[in-house]
Amino acid sequence: MKTPFFPTPLPSEITPEETFRRRRQLVFASFGLCTAAATDLTLAASSRGEKLVDVRPSPFSIDEKLTPYESVTGYGNFYEFGPDKDSPAKHAHRLRTRPWTITVDGEVKAAKTFAIEDVLKWAPLEERIYRLRCVEGWSAVVPWIGIPFAELLKRIDITGNAKFVEFWSLADPEQMPYVRVPFLDWPYVEAIRLDEAKHPLTLLAIGMYGEVMPKQNGAPIRLVVPWKYGFKGAKSIVRIRFVEKQPETVWTKAAPDEYGFYSNVNPDVPHKRWSQSHERRLGEFFKRKTLPFNGYAEQVAGLYAGMDLRKNF
Ligand code: MTE
Repeated sequence: MKTPFFPTPLPSEITPEETFRRRRQLVFASFGLCTAAATDLTLAASSRGEKLVDVRPSPFSIDEKLTPYESVTGYGNFYEFGPDKDSPAKHAHRLRTRPWTITVDGEVKAAKTFAIEDVLKWAPLEERIYRLRCVEGWSAVVPWIGIPFAELLKRIDITGNAKFVEFWSLADPEQMPYVRVPFLDWPYVEAIRLDEAKHPLTLLAIGMYGEVMPKQNGAPIRLVVPWKYGFKGAKSIVRIRFVEKQPETVWTKAAPDEYGFYSNVNPDVPHKRWSQSHERRLGEFFKRKTLPFNGYAEQVAGLYAGMDLRKNF
């Protein structure tokens, strides 16, 4: 991973969502500008995704200024599409998000494969305004739209051995050119403890800013665990596997002394190469203090009672 640096300018190319089947909650947004003859820039600004309707607000939302949509969609990490902060916005248009299935297996009584259209019907969609803190030192406030992870557990029987949950991202070299380059051990697999996954803050996100998830942010479905560093939030998930033993993850394999399994946001535990005490919100100039558990200590600190968080970083 690269060290933090100031956000790059907006990419002029943000690719429109491909047209896909409508469902109950989806309607096409009609933006006048989309049809107008436009320069690259106005096109980028206007080519937004499909609007999500029937989205209800969540009591878990924070009351902080949202980071601009352009920053969150124009700057980020999705290494399957390249190493630079604007690689996802430039190249994720290659991702085909339909048809899309998620296989749930491992420590379950019967493995199941869900079509994304069915997942979208599991529960009313909720908007969750959460802080996102990237391990590199930048942060954002994002209005995610999604379904609590716990909804999955209503539809699958896990065995008594299930203690951890892995989230596997798609790794298709045809769509994702950088999975041919072995700088990470593809596929991108992240994992959390089962009780962390069950926590009501843990979200399977399918949209943001009122719209379907942009491809660069992990369409059609990605994980959001707001008290952990952003890299825990695997994008474009195709498999969820329940396991008994604490698994290796893409980042613990890449650099075990830099990226711990837990990866809870902790201003007191520096990364091996930089401090984690402060962060810079995308689009802002001044840094701000990073909060323990990214500001969610009241809700989640109990999950780690008795644990040494310097060792279990
Ligand atoms: N998921 C996959 N599959 N590949 C990635 O490279 N990057 C992670 C995470 N999920 C990544 C991923 C990192 S380092 C961060 S900070 C967040 O995605 C960024 O999410 P965002 O682009 O929506 O801000």
